[in-house]
Amino acid sequence: MTLRAMRWWDIPQLVAHELELFPEQPWSQEAFWSELAHVPATRWYMVHEDADGIDGYVGLMAVPPEADVQTIAVATRAQGNGLGRELLTALIDEARRRECSQLFLEVRSNNDSAVALYESVGFERQAVRTDYYGHGLDAVVMRMRLANEEVAS
Ligand SMILES: CC(C)(COP(=O)(O)OP(=O)(O)OC[C@H]1O[C@@H](n2cnc3c(N)ncnc32)[C@H](O)[C@@H]1OP(=O)(O)O)[C@@H](O)C(=O)NCCC(=O)NCCS
Repeated sequence: MTLRAMRWWDIPQLVAHELELFPEQPWSQEAFWSELAHVPATRWYMVHEDADGIDGYVGLMAVPPEADVQTIAVATRAQGNGLGRELLTALIDEARRRECSQLFLEVRSNNDSAVALYESVGFERQAVRTDYYGHGLDAVVMRMRLANEEVAS
């Protein structure tokens, strides 16, 4: 799988995916601009393309020792073929490369496929944020350890 860096001219395509994949809380153009302004200092944003354009994207915030999954999405046409796992694996590798020891994310508690993906790579449920995405829409905070904390000898 080849990923390339997300660029500002990708933003209209990305916003179109947001409206389809996250209809209740889509990222705006401004949100993407704001995130890309922090690349490469504290952000890492990549896209994957097929013949029809961008079909997946992923974004990391890394402020060692902590990192956050800012976004991960696979276009409906490409879901279920392993791309989400590939994007997440690349993000985890980048967080490690940036010497982060913990990786966090928030996911809607009813997003079973995303939660299954995160648990399969080692994320654990840490907390629930009630109504985080609106009334009755809870978020699960998940954490993955990327490195063992140093143990004093
Ligand atoms: C969540 C998402 C990124 C997964 O991407 P994907 O390319 O469809 O996932 P993959 O094909 O790589 O599958 C990876 C794992 O996800 C889980 N998964 C994927 N689709 C699933 C489904 N329909 N039901 C249950 N689990 C599913 C499985 O654990 C799967 O592993 P397996 O194939 O070994 O069983 C994608 O579905 C998506 O973008 N959804 C809409 C946006 C979203 O919810 N993003 C996450 C916000 S926190």
